[in-house]
Amino acid sequence: MSVSRLTQEHHSLDFASSPSTEIQMEKVLVFIVGAGPSGLAVAACLKHASIPYVIVEHEDCSVSLWRKRTYDRLKLHLPKEFCELPHMPYPSDTPTYMPKEQFVRYVDNYIEHFNICPKYRTLVQSSEYDEVSNCWVIMAHDQVSGLVTEYAARFLVVATGENSEGNIPKIPGIHDFHGEVIHSSNYKSWNHYGEKRVLVIGCGNSGMEIAYDLASNGVDTSIVIRSPLHIMTKGLIRLGMKLSKWNIPIKFLDFILVTLAYFFFGDLSKHGIIRPNMGPLFLKAQTGRSAVIDVGTIELIKKDVIKVFGPIYCIRGNAVEFEDGKTDYFDSLVLATGYKSTANTWLKNGESLLNEEGMPKKGFPNHWKGENGLYCVGLAMRGLAGISYDAKMVAEDIKSIIDSMEPF
Ligand SMILES: Cc1cc2nc3c(=O)[nH]c(=O)nc-3n(C[C@H](O)[C@H](O)[C@H](O)COP(=O)(O)OP(=O)(O)OC[C@H]3O[C@@H](n4cnc5c(N)ncnc54)[C@H](O)[C@@H]3O)c2cc1C
Ligand SMILES: NC(=O)c1ccc[n+]([C@@H]2O[C@H](COP(=O)([O-])OP(=O)(O)OC[C@H]3O[C@@H](n4cnc5c(N)ncnc54)[C@H](OP(=O)(O)O)[C@@H]3O)[C@@H](O)[C@H]2O)c1
Repeated sequence: MSVSRLTQEHHSLDFASSPSTEIQMEKVLVFIVGAGPSGLAVAACLKHASIPYVIVEHEDCSVSLWRKRTYDRLKLHLPKEFCELPHMPYPSDTPTYMPKEQFVRYVDNYIEHFNICPKYRTLVQSSEYDEVSNCWVIMAHDQVSGLVTEYAARFLVVATGENSEGNIPKIPGIHDFHGEVIHSSNYKSWNHYGEKRVLVIGCGNSGMEIAYDLASNGVDTSIVIRSPLHIMTKGLIRLGMKLSKWNIPIKFLDFILVTLAYFFFGDLSKHGIIRPNMGPLFLKAQTGRSAVIDVGTIELIKKDVIKVFGPIYCIRGNAVEFEDGKTDYFDSLVLATGYKSTANTWLKNGESLLNEEGMPKKGFPNHWKGENGLYCVGLAMRGLAGISYDAKMVAEDIKSIIDSMEPF
């Protein structure tokens, strides 16, 4: 597959150029873009506060990332107590670390419980603030009927996710690679790979787990690790998150975590894994970068079942040349190179809230509110726990404004 085909289809659609497009108009109080966990969480909080809203979703289902763009063996890395959406706890028999199917079932119950009715297959293509009407004017394309609706909304909630589109790195020669190239969002399982030699590029949680999935099932697997990273067990991260609720200084917690991680994994520098200078919790808080939660990959790296390479210099045919002068040959590349937000592709006048990358301008905990009734949920790089916080803050803010305003 060519890399250019890896970018998501929906961003190249252009309803405005279609001569047969009909436009309808609708006035709404709150408009939510995206029915992932963030959009659903804010919808539930608004429902809880009896505030009407419209929620639209480009895909044909809710939580499309979890249903369609994650690998088969995915389990939540964080314990369930940090992954609840607002106003609905997990059933008591839920395992501490949920498989993704169970999370999706929880979401389905959540949608039913709060009677959330997303308009599916509806793509928001533009949104602009109108200073005359003090409303956000949103153009939403129903991809089934072909109709375009122009919504005028007093409040606009961006819930399109920080993992909206795969980040495709600019590696010289990658477009001419003689083999399959996929982004990790399209990876499902090892059984597609058989006898192939696979290079996983990127060593975040996706890359490390995909490398494990491949190698532990007999696929010849290598991984590119180009920057320092923390390796933790899920128990250690759970401990850190629990203790951080008790106002223990983060540097002290990090010291404990790094010491215990050293005890578990030893010195990994000879395997190409160097620890960052900042501790794991501080690094997460400062940069959003997560520690890697080991699922067994480290043992396979230590045994040389998974081979580690440094940064890539270039690709020629099937040959991948690395900056340290090594060259190796691969049949498939998996780009576990992270994601990016696409909010700026459709949101105009969002400067009070988002930067050029479509991520919040302000740091946590003030990142969720812009000007003129503009909000974001789920863009603070804090996972499901962060989503819950954002959704409650946004709904409370909207409620307090509505309570003090003239009828709409
Ligand atoms: C492999 C993987 C595993 C993860 N595991 C965890 C975990 O265990 N715990 C955790 O806390 N977090 C995890 N995360 C992070 C995870 O992304 C978030 O927790 C959560 O899914 C984000 O929810 P969201 O609603 O903000 O974004 P998304 O889930 O990405 O949902 C955004 C929705 O908006 C829709 N959309 C986008 N643009 C438009 C548009 N223009 N018009 C209409 N709709 C649009 C998309 O189709 C999508 O359905 C994981 C991420 C990945 C990639
Ligand atoms: N079970 C789970 O809970 C689970 C599983 C998977 C993912 N997640 C979460 O999902 C989010 C996304 O994770 P992710 O792993 O997909 O993305 P990520 O955390 O952003 O990691 C991307 C990785 O790609 C590397 N990279 C980028 N460009 C590269 C290049 N040109 N060459 C080599 N390496 C390159 C990055 O290295 P640099 O640092 O050098 O740029 C980084 O290691 C995270 O929040 C993660 O915790 C959770």
